[in-house]
Amino acid sequence: MKRHKTIIPLSHDHHVILKLAQEIKRNFIKTVLGKSSIENKVKHVISTFKKELLPHFNHEENILFPLAKGKDAELDRMIDEIIEEHDKIGRLVSKIEVGDKEQNLDDLGFLLESHIRKEERIVFSKIEEILGDELNIIEGQIYAKR
Ligand SMILES: [Fe+2]
Ligand SMILES: [Fe+2]
Repeated sequence: MKRHKTIIPLSHDHHVILKLAQEIKRNFIKTVLGKSSIENKVKHVISTFKKELLPHFNHEENILFPLAKGKDAELDRMIDEIIEEHDKIGRLVSKIEVGDKEQNLDDLGFLLESHIRKEERIVFSKIEEILGDELNIIEGQIYAKR
């Protein structure tokens, strides 16, 4: 789908995050990270969360969503749900080393995947529909994290 230019950097992040989501799931793809140990995946997740995921969530929560809020009741509900998912993802990462690490990585992989797909397919499309060229207001404020 063609994205508004202002939010293309977030879609770029989504691409990177989706790959990570696949790589940390149980029995997954044959990339270097996908084939590496559980311990290595846990370490990678913790550092990627700080360096890439958290700044990504912050761009959504502090730049994009404030512009999108208060214009459409359905969109407002979607944004609230997305912010709750950010918190849930953060809590999962903070407990990733507690208990069954392989299961935790698998759970996080599925949660990240469904979160990103929801944003790309539903929430961002709705934001573009409701805001249109108002998105130009925040042009240049959002950049890709990698
Ligand atoms: Fe998000
Ligand atoms: Fe996102």
